[in-house]
Amino acid sequence: MHSPFRLDGKVALLTGASSGLGHRFAGVLAAAGAQVALAARRTGRLAALEQEIAAGGGKAVAVEMDVTRVNSIAAGVEKAEAALGPIDILINNSGVATEQRMGRFTEADYDHVMGTNLKGAFFVAQEVGRRMIDAKRGGRIINVGSTAGLRPFTMLGLYGMSKAGLIYMTRSMATEWARHGICVNAICPGYIKTELNAEHWDTEAGKKLITMLPRRRIGNPADLDGLILLLASDAAETINGAIIPADDGFAAG
Ligand SMILES: NC(=O)c1ccc[n+]([C@@H]2O[C@H](COP(=O)([O-])OP(=O)(O)OC[C@H]3O[C@@H](n4cnc5c(N)ncnc54)[C@H](OP(=O)(O)O)[C@@H]3O)[C@@H](O)[C@H]2O)c1
Repeated sequence: MHSPFRLDGKVALLTGASSGLGHRFAGVLAAAGAQVALAARRTGRLAALEQEIAAGGGKAVAVEMDVTRVNSIAAGVEKAEAALGPIDILINNSGVATEQRMGRFTEADYDHVMGTNLKGAFFVAQEVGRRMIDAKRGGRIINVGSTAGLRPFTMLGLYGMSKAGLIYMTRSMATEWARHGICVNAICPGYIKTELNAEHWDTEAGKKLITMLPRRRIGNPADLDGLILLLASDAAETINGAIIPADDGFAAG
């Protein structure tokens, strides 16, 4: 029986593929049969992942992209489609976090976090969404939100604001683009150990935080494999505008 989770013949674009969750998602989609365009600024890392995927029998292409610059997004998406064909799946994953009290964030902090996580994600989704509409093939857009977009976290107010905006954007795009067969959903992971937060877990504050998490543990990027595959696949045909926490129940508490 054909698995509804196979992605043979599909083309996926992943932003933030140079590390952490994006790196993991790229491998998961490639293993399911998708051809993957790997986008980020650190092209050396993308080239290494491209080779890794090729060695496993998959097809990938590295694409330089700075999501804070709209011209760079357009050029990167153009390069991805020139190499692999029309994009069927977008994993809108690039993100940054800056920790500070709400009273102390600077304008530079604001521009950095909102410029990457919200403005960047918006223009990536807009560029890919327009192309999906023109191609009349439907599509899947998966925005990588966070538990921090669902409930406030100390020191992560600005990051949470950007992810709350991303959640609103997800619903708006889902509503507008449903008629084109494009499903736009967001996943909201809890704490997962990646370069974004790796140093934090050895600090006193990090150790204390783990004791307050529902399962007293930090997640692993592999925890999200099934969810990303579901939302990228034909099985998600009716799942649209969903905001899915994947955080051991942290946002529910
Ligand atoms: N780890 C967690 O606990 C957690 C929890 C919830 C949500 N998330 C979200 O998951 C996503 C991935 O985070 P991660 O944990 O995997 O962190 P990470 O390892 O630091 O990866 C972040 C990725 O974003 C890319 N990026 C940053 N600025 C960019 C820019 N201007 N243009 C293009 N790409 C840019 C980075 O690539 P380059 O530096 O090479 O450009 C990198 O590949 C983020 O959206 C994050 O908010 C993470």
